[in-house]
Amino acid sequence: MQLIARGVGHAYGAMPALQGIDLTVQDREIVAIIGPSGCGKSTLLGILGGILRPTAGTVAIEGAPPADSLNPFTYIFQDFALLPWRTVARNIELVLHRHRLGRAGTARIVADVLRRTGLEQFADAYPRQLSGGMRQRVGIARALAVRPAVLLMDEPLSALDAQTRELLLEDFLDLWLRAPMAAVYVTHNLAEALRVADRVAVMSRRPGRLREIVPIVIPQAERTRPERQGEIARLHETLWGLIKDEARIAEREVAGHA
Ligand SMILES: Nc1ncnc2c1ncn2[C@@H]1O[C@H](COP(=O)(O)OP(=O)(O)O)[C@@H](O)[C@H]1O
Ligand SMILES: [Mg+2]
Repeated sequence: MQLIARGVGHAYGAMPALQGIDLTVQDREIVAIIGPSGCGKSTLLGILGGILRPTAGTVAIEGAPPADSLNPFTYIFQDFALLPWRTVARNIELVLHRHRLGRAGTARIVADVLRRTGLEQFADAYPRQLSGGMRQRVGIARALAVRPAVLLMDEPLSALDAQTRELLLEDFLDLWLRAPMAAVYVTHNLAEALRVADRVAVMSRRPGRLREIVPIVIPQAERTRPERQGEIARLHETLWGLIKDEARIAEREVAGHA
């Protein structure tokens, strides 16, 4: 399935948050969205996933989701969004409940995603008993359980420390490469964008516009290899060059409002 945003804009009341976004997310492609805080990344993600209606422009969907997809558009959030009083397995069951798969069907999917995300031993644990990294694994397991056709991730690793981020990124890419789907990955971390994305969409400060789309042609599996680091460093510089001034101005604006 692919998403095509044409002339998408959004205003919260009189305040324009997004303007003139033209962006296609192809099937089996990961598009990272980077930009200064407050530039409208989460707003755009909400519009792409259909939970927020744009005040200008349209988002077209091309192609049908796989027949076994329970929820074509699925989000993964920074704060994991787990219910603290439910175990890991019961948090995952929650998103399956309304699909009426029966007890055996539900149990089969829960067991499958727990295994794929390395959480088998934690089925009966409560979120508070888990590290941040394990909690986000539950977030990923829960997203995979509904077999999304488009995965929408809003700074999924931002609450985690650097090592945990690296481990989760690796495991996420592993999972994704086995069953690729269209994905949008919002982050303010350039290294993360350079690790996961086929293309990086760079946004300007508020009201967010697309400044540039930078293709990352290095295969994901090669991006940690020493001989690729020169190229990665150059891309990092390119991206940083595009957002540095904007980030500086945005930072002052945010500080001014605080
Ligand atoms: N529900 C809302 N009502 C009013 N303003 C909002 C709302 N959500 C976000 N905003 C404002 O819109 C702008 C873009 O927000 P957001 O999409 O969250 O940016 P980002 O994710 O890039 O930090 C910000 O200035 C933010 O304060
Ligand atoms: Mg945001």
